[in-house]
Amino acid sequence: MESQLDIEFVESQEDAASRVGVLGLAARPGLVWQGDAEGYVASLGAGFERALERAGFKGEAGQSCSYDTGSESPHTVVALGTGEDPGADDLRRAAGVLGRKASKDASVATTLAFEGQAAPVVEGFLLSQYSYDRFKSKPEPAVTDSLLLVGAGEMSDCEAGMVVAEAVGWARDLVNTPAQDKAPQEIQRQVAEMAEGLGLRLKTHDVPDLEEKGFGGLLGVAAGSDRAPCLVELWHEPEGSETFVALVGKGITFDSGGLSIKPASAMETMKTDMSGAAAVIGAMVAIARLRLPVKVLGLAPLSDNMPGSRAIKPGDVLTTRNGKTIEVLNTDAEGRLVLADALAYAVEHEPDLMVDLATLTGACKVALGDDIAGVMGNDDSLIDRIERAGEQAGELVWHLPLPKEYRRQLDTPMADMKNIGGRWAGALTAGLLLQEFVDDVPWAHLDIAGPSRWTRNEHYQTKGGSGFGVRTLVELVANLAEQGFGTTE
Ligand code: BES
Ligand code: MN
Ligand code: ZN
Repeated sequence: MESQLDIEFVESQEDAASRVGVLGLAARPGLVWQGDAEGYVASLGAGFERALERAGFKGEAGQSCSYDTGSESPHTVVALGTGEDPGADDLRRAAGVLGRKASKDASVATTLAFEGQAAPVVEGFLLSQYSYDRFKSKPEPAVTDSLLLVGAGEMSDCEAGMVVAEAVGWARDLVNTPAQDKAPQEIQRQVAEMAEGLGLRLKTHDVPDLEEKGFGGLLGVAAGSDRAPCLVELWHEPEGSETFVALVGKGITFDSGGLSIKPASAMETMKTDMSGAAAVIGAMVAIARLRLPVKVLGLAPLSDNMPGSRAIKPGDVLTTRNGKTIEVLNTDAEGRLVLADALAYAVEHEPDLMVDLATLTGACKVALGDDIAGVMGNDDSLIDRIERAGEQAGELVWHLPLPKEYRRQLDTPMADMKNIGGRWAGALTAGLLLQEFVDDVPWAHLDIAGPSRWTRNEHYQTKGGSGFGVRTLVELVANLAEQGFGTTE
């Protein structure tokens, strides 16, 4: 997990330029070069000016332009637009553009962190150089091992950026791992290995324990697979914490749909149905390494969803951890079944607030597309905080309602509820089912079915598992460390 990148602050780009292959120069609109780089830019001469003009580079956020200097150090200057008043994600993205362009260079420098915003710059840079090439016979990993930041900043910000990027990278790795290599027990083993070094307390719940404790949802979903389910329970318990957060992540290690089997094309990406669990575990790792002074419980119910001969059948009724019963009419609506148990179990620990993340519904993707997560919940101030954390983290979330008028769609004569609603508003009826298991605890549910996989390579995102949610959760917990959580505010 340790990053290979050495980071150093240097005073001026003249110091940096002679030591690197690629130099990333940040510019605001009107070509205002950050970090006193005007003189250096002038020394690049008319060729650079012409290149910028041809590229239409004006310093707007998202713009970039590469220029070959014709010399050795640096051989390439990359102009990076940040916009007028860059937010964290403008810098993260610009750093991501630089990281991509410089991935074949050992040493890189940039003025992007000139105003002390080192954390997002380091994050974006590292994330952009992520690749999953375990199965490539000719892997081409990024080779950058030294990043010089022009300006004065705090080394602790760089370290925070590295910690977060590594946690996101870990989550991406787990999401990208083929289902064959990530049985629930295998993930649990990996978590145990990590937890030890980080001071996270791990409690594991295997089948006998789940049976004894009445996790009927999780056991029901797991019944069709030969691979045993488990519940990973991770505790971060710093001294003197005032706030207690529970995080819950859907961990379906492969979603075939079960007996309500999916068509082949819909199954292609279903190894990624444990992205919520990956986000929660990744966030726990970062929260522990950053020693955030908030008590955090992380729960990941892990299970396959397979149509084996013991699989639950449409019409079966499951009794969940809090005693409520669910008639399973579609075995492909399995995420809510494992989350029902885990949320009920979280509530028993009396957290101040809870957040769950799940690749829960195709309907949420229909509503919000590939890039945006839906957020639902029972507490507007919590949803507000999550929206703000998401914005800071560069992870888009959009508030969807939980209309009590739709609860009747889950009514059934057979049990307390059924696991599917009607034809429309599938993201909301899924959220309404989860709400049955949170009691009065302030709770937010993020449906990350869309953004858990990124569809394209751009700035710091790479195609495939995105690790979506890690950064928002870390940001949320960091904010709670500073401000606490009052539901009456
Ligand atoms: N894991 C899927 C949701 C999903 C779909 C995530 C596409 C990412 C991309 C979930 O378990 C599921 O199958 N949901 C069903 C629910 C339906 C049967 C009520 C769905 O969305 O079709
Ligand atoms: Mn499903
Ligand atoms: Zn699923």
